[in-house]
Amino acid sequence: MWIGTEFKVEKQQHDFRLPAVVLTEDGATSVTGDHGSVIFRVENLTKIYTTGEVEVRALNGVNLSLLAAEMVVLLGPSGSGKSTLLNIIGGLDDATSGHVWFKGDDLTQYSQRQLTRYRREHVGFVFQFYNLIPSLTARENVALVTDVALDPMPPEEALAMVDLGNRMGHFPAQLSGGEQQRVAIARAIAKRPEVLFCDEPTGALDSKTGILVLEALSRINEELGTTTAIITHNAGIQQIAHRVYSFMDGKIDSERKNAERVAPSEVSW
Ligand SMILES: Nc1ncnc2c1ncn2[C@@H]1O[C@H](COP(=O)(O)OP(=O)(O)OP(=O)(O)O)[C@@H](O)[C@H]1O
Ligand SMILES: [Mg+2]
Repeated sequence: MWIGTEFKVEKQQHDFRLPAVVLTEDGATSVTGDHGSVIFRVENLTKIYTTGEVEVRALNGVNLSLLAAEMVVLLGPSGSGKSTLLNIIGGLDDATSGHVWFKGDDLTQYSQRQLTRYRREHVGFVFQFYNLIPSLTARENVALVTDVALDPMPPEEALAMVDLGNRMGHFPAQLSGGEQQRVAIARAIAKRPEVLFCDEPTGALDSKTGILVLEALSRINEELGTTTAIITHNAGIQQIAHRVYSFMDGKIDSERKNAERVAPSEVSW
């Protein structure tokens, strides 16, 4: 009975992936919204944490894909494995078994050095708490990253994208929570990453400031074509995504495409 259910879920995901692959004519990555090429393909991923005698199966055979330029929401109850998955795809943690294909490369085979380079060149992270440096202004917090990136945008441009062009000289303590999170987003996108991984980006915010953060993420997704994955507990936020994966007990419980997306300002919080 249990095996039958598992097979059904995996079969559905496999069927979904095949027609979803659309390459542009020259084989380059398409940035045409939810019809892009596959950037990430996660295959049968497991993660077991062992603490003393206790084993926790944080991920128990996850299969999913992320397409170029799409916005995906990952929903699920506490402890269902969402952060574990994002940390592994983002190169912050290693898997117990399975594969994470990033455009033909298997991240699970990367050395620590390769992972560091992968994170630096391709991935932007946004976490619930903003991790800004208090003694640096908004512009200086962003410049810390752009000073070492290969093809960065100017810090001013990144801050303008999150609608903070008029707060560049402010220190974090002089900014609201939502503004600090938008500085963190500007810092994450200033190196022009291909993918932005956001773990509860509005988790510490009220609805009004949370919506401004979602608007910044949507704008970046649309204007830069940055593939964006957002973990949230807030079921209302799933409406802004192209696709939604729901987690349960370390597995994908369901995957669905939003026929119609809603603007962040329309999200019922
Ligand atoms: N470093 C760790 N050591 C041991 N167990 C861990 C570790 N990190 C996570 N876990 C366990 O793995 C499971 C999945 O955790 P994870 O953080 O991925 O859940 P989550 O879906 O992100 O939850 P939340 O919504 O509360 O953030 C949980 O049971 C958690 O206790
Ligand atoms: Mg989490």
